[in-house]
Amino acid sequence: MEEVEKEKISTIINKYKKDRTYLLAIFQDVQREYRYLPKEAIHFICNELNIPESKGFEVATFYKSLSLTPRGKHTVHVCLGTACHLRGGPNILDTFERELKIKKGETTGDGMFTLESVNCLGACALAPLVRVGDKDFGKTTPGIVQNIIQEFKTGE
Ligand code: FES
Repeated sequence: MEEVEKEKISTIINKYKKDRTYLLAIFQDVQREYRYLPKEAIHFICNELNIPESKGFEVATFYKSLSLTPRGKHTVHVCLGTACHLRGGPNILDTFERELKIKKGETTGDGMFTLESVNCLGACALAPLVRVGDKDFGKTTPGIVQNIIQEFKTGE
């Protein structure tokens, strides 16, 4: 890792006074910084906190909110809960996969989008539902998938 990155990560570790009980919080802060948790960062943090790397990787892989691979600027969550599944959720997911040219769980080469499926976003009346960041798109159809992608591509 570059020195400047070590510095950045050291600052986060020091914020928690090098207390190993804050390992998860440190990982979350680093992920916020890089949009994922680089393996080199885990090595460095474990070394600094004097804990075995195996423990660090155990924590990093246990929590679904942490990602060891780069994440896109926007995460597209396609709901495949029961209501959304019945109303065409799988078709919406297929369309996103085709349009973004990635599979579920992957990130586009330009770093714009990560595509995920989820089980119920809690708004079943709007099935099939897609959530991008904190914006919901209800009663979606394959026809509006391209519009959703464009909105976020041109948005920021
Ligand atoms: S099943 Fe999709 S929001 Fe509940």
